Amino acid sequence: MHRIGDGGSLWVWRLLILLQFVSGILSWGKEGHFATCRIAEEYLTEDAKAAVKELLPSSAGGDLASVCSWPDEIRHSYRWRWSGPLHYVDTPDFKCNYEYCRDCHDLGGNKDRCVTGAIYNYTKQLMDFNHGCYSTVEYNLTEALMFLSHFVGDVHQPLHVGFTGDEGGNTIIVHWYGRKTNLHHVWDNMIIDSALKMFYQSDLNNMIEAIQSNITDVWFNDVSSWRNCAANQTACPDPYASESINLACKFAYKDVTPGSTLKNDYFRSRLPIVEQRLAQGGVRLAATLNRIFASGPKVTTT
Ligand code: ADE
Ligand code: ZN
Ligand code: ZN
Repeated sequence: MHRIGDGGSLWVWRLLILLQFVSGILSWGKEGHFATCRIAEEYLTEDAKAAVKELLPSSAGGDLASVCSWPDEIRHSYRWRWSGPLHYVDTPDFKCNYEYCRDCHDLGGNKDRCVTGAIYNYTKQLMDFNHGCYSTVEYNLTEALMFLSHFVGDVHQPLHVGFTGDEGGNTIIVHWYGRKTNLHHVWDNMIIDSALKMFYQSDLNNMIEAIQSNITDVWFNDVSSWRNCAANQTACPDPYASESINLACKFAYKDVTPGSTLKNDYFRSRLPIVEQRLAQGGVRLAATLNRIFASGPKVTTT
């Protein structure tokens, strides 16, 4: 046993701080993913609801939102390290546009290993299942559903489509009010956390309800265009990534330099962007799952 203040507990504290930092560099934080998936659940067709229910792990208790952060929870373990680059896609420094062929690769240059590539890949796996080409040996479709649901959230976080040189804002140290953090973490967590405290009585359900009512009134006329996907395509992550890098340039990186203190002005002007991206992520995840499971799984009988 280590006593508080001795060398052992200092290491435990260092480890905890490191883990907090590391978990922060991944994606929308837990709240963002929960909100996106909770919003998506509202818009699922009966066919999609049935397929999702069939594929969810029993630990989910039938609730997609409860497993939407799973890819962040496992990605540090040795077994899942390959999945790290699938959470984001970065553009060359200061390029405010996104191109699949130029940008979708990992640090080793392996093509398709990025968030948009992953969305195409997991959509295809789930489509095969829906068309009766289900092979348990080849794919684990429970994992495919959880990865797809998570990555549709991630591609809507503007700094998950950021610049290569600063790792989507991860290496830009800033202060959020009094607290030292980095720009990426501000967009994954801090804006949402501050909004919860300031406007939503620290209750995520209140924030989700506010976003849902914006979807049905303020953004009502835009929602059908959010769902648009090129004819004969099931998943459309490329336009979402283009929107994200555009928002990263116009709002996330704008007026920020290393060492900046970000507070009220930044918070007030960026929160509406965060809320709209959570809404779009949810509506589009549902639209994608609805297209994948359009006619329900085809059961092959012999
Ligand atoms: N690592 C490198 N770039 C990243 C990004 N845009 N988002 C999250 N992690 C990253
Ligand atoms: Zn992620
Ligand atoms: Zn992140």
